[in-house]
Amino acid sequence: MLTKPYSFLTSAFVIPVMVIEREADAIPMAEALVAGGINVLEVTLRTPCALAAIKAIAQAVPDAHVGAGTVCTGDDFSAAVDAGARFIVSPGQSDALFNKSSALKVPLLPGAVSATEVMRAAEAGFKVLKFFPASTSGGAAAIKAFSGPFSDISFVPTGGIGPKNLLEYLDLPNVQAAGGSWMLPKDKIQSGDWQAVTQLSREASELATTKELIQ
Ligand code: 3PG
Repeated sequence: MLTKPYSFLTSAFVIPVMVIEREADAIPMAEALVAGGINVLEVTLRTPCALAAIKAIAQAVPDAHVGAGTVCTGDDFSAAVDAGARFIVSPGQSDALFNKSSALKVPLLPGAVSATEVMRAAEAGFKVLKFFPASTSGGAAAIKAFSGPFSDISFVPTGGIGPKNLLEYLDLPNVQAAGGSWMLPKDKIQSGDWQAVTQLSREASELATTKELIQ
């Protein structure tokens, strides 16, 4: 495993990609994830209540380390930080996002799936990159190939990851954590079955940490 430049990733092996449709779901969803051993949470800015959800989790779930995902503009970045996001994830990258991260001193995981994108983000000083969409961008094999030319860069892959292929990614020394939504099935969220979310989260975190213990 490469050095973890961000302390919040030290014990984060699985990062849930949260799409919160109802503000009232924010706190129970976060609590269910934390109860299952997952405490670094990415709330995507894909729904009208996303910023309110970040604020609610930041205030009411002290064991959660909440960040914002699907952050595509500098304004999104600022709004997410104002709401309480402590890290920012973007599917891609831009100078506006790089500049906001530097100005606000908030960690950014910019997206990169090509060598050129990796080089551009690295040149701006970003060494931990989101690799999205992982499964259709070459998967674990592509990330493994990046370890040759980009020995100081590591990745957080998301997109198409689940229990069956999680360890393919986490086994790579240049992968810090893997993101995904498999522990948040839409039907379970819709019905408020938070125990199911906790169970899936526990299975995910145990799978990930078993691997860490074996190393
Ligand atoms: C996303 O941005 O939606 C994430 O990459 C989650 O992908 P998944 O639903 O395939 O886990």
